[in-house]
Amino acid sequence: VQPRAKGAGVPEEEKNMNVILYMAMTANGYIAKKNDDTTFVSSKEWKSFCAMIRKVGNMVVGSRTYEIMRKGVELQKFHSIPVVVVTHRASFSLASSHHCIAKSPKDALAILRKRNMKEALIAGGGTLNASCMKEGLVDEMYLDIEPVLFGEGINLFSGKKFEADLKLLGIKKLSKNELQFHYRVMKKKK
Ligand SMILES: NC(=O)c1ccc[n+]([C@@H]2O[C@H](COP(=O)([O-])OP(=O)(O)OC[C@H]3O[C@@H](n4cnc5c(N)ncnc54)[C@H](OP(=O)(O)O)[C@@H]3O)[C@@H](O)[C@H]2O)c1
Repeated sequence: VQPRAKGAGVPEEEKNMNVILYMAMTANGYIAKKNDDTTFVSSKEWKSFCAMIRKVGNMVVGSRTYEIMRKGVELQKFHSIPVVVVTHRASFSLASSHHCIAKSPKDALAILRKRNMKEALIAGGGTLNASCMKEGLVDEMYLDIEPVLFGEGINLFSGKKFEADLKLLGIKKLSKNELQFHYRVMKKKK
């Protein structure tokens, strides 16, 4: 009997994949100001985020985040890694041939599974994050807490109602002033 290739015959959506959400936020849970300003994020945090992208080897973002990154210099660093942009739009202007679009978070993960990725990195913004949590797709979460507050802004999660229990897996000091919380998202029984 020929051994079955690992994963052969298993539907794409059932193949195991570790899904990580990684975000920088203020101490009161904002990921950007209302005008999309994220200059509160330190270079140390950015380095930590980039190291995670290199480790995971891909990134899933909402269309607004992609468009904002595209206007700046951030996307240049990620030209050769698979970036999946989640959008309802049928066509979307992409910055690299390694980037593609997906019509839902689940589709984005299916695309990465097809490319034999064992992990996926969800990288914002708040609308995409909330969709992923609502659909129970996230396994782990890294939250880098910047020592900043502002009264209003874009929330870590926005636009969807959900609840989740977390298990603290670790705390790391990124710098004298910055902490990283690493959580496991406990799956709720449906
Ligand atoms: N601090 C950080 O670490 C960090 C990281 C990333 C982003 N940010 C900030 O977050 C802000 C952007 O967040 P945001 O909430 O406004 O936008 P977003 O989540 O980046 O993008 C929202 C868009 O993504 C698409 N989308 C999201 N969920 C979807 C779903 N379930 N199905 C299909 N399409 C879906 C839709 O695109 P269409 O409208 O095209 O259909 C939606 O309008 C920016 O200010 C950015 O700088 C901060």
